Amino acid sequence: MKVRKAVIPAAGYGTRFLPATKSQPKEMLPIIDKPTIQFIVEEAVAAGIEEILIITNHQKASIENHFDRSFELEYFLQKNNKTEELKIIQRISSLANIHSVRQKEQKGLGHAILCAKTFVGNEPFAVLLGDDVVVSKVPAIKQLCDQYEQTKSSIVGVQQVELQNVSKYGIVSPIHELSDQFRLTEINSMIEKPAIEQAPSRLAVLGRYVLDPHIFSLLENQTPGSGGEIQLTDAIKRLMPKRKVFAYQFEGRRYDVGNKLGYLEATVDFALNRDDLKEDFFQLLKEKVYRND
Ligand code: G1P
Repeated sequence: MKVRKAVIPAAGYGTRFLPATKSQPKEMLPIIDKPTIQFIVEEAVAAGIEEILIITNHQKASIENHFDRSFELEYFLQKNNKTEELKIIQRISSLANIHSVRQKEQKGLGHAILCAKTFVGNEPFAVLLGDDVVVSKVPAIKQLCDQYEQTKSSIVGVQQVELQNVSKYGIVSPIHELSDQFRLTEINSMIEKPAIEQAPSRLAVLGRYVLDPHIFSLLENQTPGSGGEIQLTDAIKRLMPKRKVFAYQFEGRRYDVGNKLGYLEATVDFALNRDDLKEDFFQLLKEKVYRND
């Protein structure tokens, strides 16, 4: 079965970006001029996903507005012959069918995903986390969807992280070693934010999943785990005795935009890749580096 639906959790408080996130969603913070959540939605669309559910809360209305039409703004741009800007604005609202549902209480990622149960129904679905922006030839979630076509089993997207960083992530226990040639393996365990000594590998789940809908019945009675939250990782682990779960080492450069340094790095790299900015920006960076010498 083709993966047609995606879920994007976006109900967190974004405390790492306070005060910027006091009254605006962290998902709306831009990398240069595009909100981070638009990169995530575009990735899903580029993977052929047709229906997208964003999990929000009462403070996230600007996300819904962003993907809706804005007739006033369109009228203004048209009247002032701002054709390019008009195209950009109109394209956003026609990217995909975007739905939203509110998570009433912040009980963790697993609980947020459970809010998608009715939307997903009985089909496999993709999950994309907003803090992980990936730049790759083939969209990261498409790489996972393509694998799903072969395995017909849940897949988590992983990459190697430094040993000292394992406790920031969900870490998988692979059955086979992964490399650039062999990117897919079944996994037999998964642990959320392990201590270094407990990490079964350095393969971290980096915000991309394709899941079997059976996960919902597990999430419904999932007890709180790491950080006192209902963890998606714990429910996926409980899925393993019932259904196979795979890890796929996706190709691409991943930025942790939920972290200040990662966010800055993404901003710099994206600017250096943009035709309208790269020369001037590179010049500016050079001047700053030399001045600080
Ligand atoms: C979440 C997941 C974790 C995953 C990480 C990727 O953690 O729970 O398993 O590795 O995203 O970014 P969070 O960063 O929300 O604490």
